[in-house]
Amino acid sequence: MTTEEQARRVFGERAAFYTTSAVHADPQVLARVVALAAPQPDWLSLDIATGTGHTAFALAAHVRAVVGTDLTPEMLREAETLRAAKGIANVAFTLADVHDLPFPAGTFHLITCRRAAHHFSRMGLALGEMRRVLRAGGRLVIDDRSVPEDDFVDACMNELDRYHDESHVREYRPSAWRKMLQGVGFAVESVESYTKHRPLTAFTEKASPENVPQIHAAIARLTPAQREALNLREENGEPYLNHWYVTLAATIAKA
Ligand SMILES: C[S@@+](CC[C@H](N)C(=O)[O-])C[C@H]1O[C@@H](n2cnc3c(N)ncnc32)[C@H](O)[C@@H]1O
Repeated sequence: MTTEEQARRVFGERAAFYTTSAVHADPQVLARVVALAAPQPDWLSLDIATGTGHTAFALAAHVRAVVGTDLTPEMLREAETLRAAKGIANVAFTLADVHDLPFPAGTFHLITCRRAAHHFSRMGLALGEMRRVLRAGGRLVIDDRSVPEDDFVDACMNELDRYHDESHVREYRPSAWRKMLQGVGFAVESVESYTKHRPLTAFTEKASPENVPQIHAAIARLTPAQREALNLREENGEPYLNHWYVTLAATIAKA
């Protein structure tokens, strides 16, 4: 199976969960994405890997229209049901792979992409497509899972995330994001890192049953220093550890 087929399988099964997931509806993160986007009422906006549309809906009140794209039909069906229930008229959804966006060059003023880029199998191509469909002077805001500038935490979090979700490709350090964005011609405006302390069940819930013992084994073999690096602690009798995230804003210069 390709990464994209895996993503369609995983998210096809999890679509209803994403509609109600508190983590994905996180209003604080959505507000930060909207603030960094600095949207204008006449803008046409693209929300890539929109899932069930949380980010597209958060932007809808601030721009002329939003197109939400995603690889997984089940996610877009949930998104469309939610859109109709909310009575939002200026959001439309289209099936599309980020690596091959079905839009002419220079179509959008703004692109957002939240909690999805770690699934993209060819990041250079994906960012190149984003750059192509943005207008000169356009803005890109990405929020995604991330890792700190630490080899152990980088390897460990990526391993846990692959067990949690077989379509996980890679979560990147802030320095890698800067390089990747600059590599396709974006000027990086801001890079904000943050953490959330979340239960180990965030990895085991929804994981394939054969991967759950692997997650517990990875945690059991940690040294005290490694546990400290992950901020792994008991809270209410449950292990909790850090999840790292990054929110980035970038622009392309006017010609
Ligand atoms: C965690 S969910 C998205 C959450 C959503 N952006 C939000 O803010 O609530 C990740 C989404 O990425 C989509 N995805 C994964 N690979 C993709 C690709 N190559 N092109 C487009 N969408 C993709 C999946 O179908 C899934 O809906």
